[in-house]
Amino acid sequence: MLDALRTIEEEFRAAIDEAGADPERVEAVRVRFLGRKSPLTALMKQLGKLSAEERPAAGQAINQLKKSIQQSIEEAVEKAAAGALEQELQDSSVDVTLPPRSPWRGSQHPVHATRRELERIFRDLGYTIETGPEVEDDFHNFQALNLPPEHPARDAQDTFYLEGDRLLRTHTSPVQIRTMESRRPPIRMVCPGRVYRRDHDATHLPMFHQLEALVVDKGISMAHLKGTMDRVWKTFYGEQVKTRLRPAYFPFVEPGAEYDISCQVCGGEGCRVCKQTGWIELGGAGMVHPAVFEAVGIDPDVYSGWAFGLGIDRIAMMRHGIDDLRLLVENDVRFLSQFPT
Ligand code: DAH
Repeated sequence: MLDALRTIEEEFRAAIDEAGADPERVEAVRVRFLGRKSPLTALMKQLGKLSAEERPAAGQAINQLKKSIQQSIEEAVEKAAAGALEQELQDSSVDVTLPPRSPWRGSQHPVHATRRELERIFRDLGYTIETGPEVEDDFHNFQALNLPPEHPARDAQDTFYLEGDRLLRTHTSPVQIRTMESRRPPIRMVCPGRVYRRDHDATHLPMFHQLEALVVDKGISMAHLKGTMDRVWKTFYGEQVKTRLRPAYFPFVEPGAEYDISCQVCGGEGCRVCKQTGWIELGGAGMVHPAVFEAVGIDPDVYSGWAFGLGIDRIAMMRHGIDDLRLLVENDVRFLSQFPT
């Protein structure tokens, strides 16, 4: 019996040494020497065959070896856990000399960036930046702008009507009215914002962006309008830009005009973008109609003013050579990331 115990102990020492700090192999050794089919268990079963005198000493010897094996295994398990931690620390160590990954940066949408740039130019000229509701009423969007009910020019606006006399504003011109209602001249304001029309094809979106400008004071003339436009577009595109006014009809101005700038793609020579004319139409303009002043309680015999409206999306597209309107609303990051701020 004692020989058998000695053999088991030797085998165990060899096995546990070999297992080292590998947790799986330590567990295998534990099962082999302490499990139900271990040689120690087998010896225990043989105790009954021994004589009564031999039995206590043999039992003690078996128990002693069992305890000693248990202790060795516990130590090996601890060693294995410490080894695993050491290994993990080594594997996940950080090389602090590596260059950092640069942070991901967002950018401004080209339409937004263009709007901000125009706002800055006008602010530098002393204009206030105004806003107005996108859900408007008939009075501000039409009537006060000299477009009474049944006026034929209303048709051209392709209005989205809501309940009651509410509608989605078709232009930023109602902000002229709201500003004149709440303030007395002198007024110098611009209003950028979203406008809506029931219009959707290759060159029109149902929502787009306009910027409205209004100046009201004593002695304002068309020359101020022309001079301001020149200054604004020269600041925006560069000193080479030319501007021109062409007679046109808008109910809220008299005289009214459409205004063009020399094509910034071909420099005025004539190309596909400007349809060989050398000019690009930007919007409408004119001298504020006396009926508009009357609607907001400003005396047209004392004050005069000019106004213009323009499409921001078109300007952003021309500026960046974007030839498809849909790119502006799809918000594809591959497109947007080409305009770092
Ligand atoms: N509101 C007009 C439109 O959307 C543009 C416009 C024309 C604005 C003449 C003006 C103006 O301020 O004077 O078609």
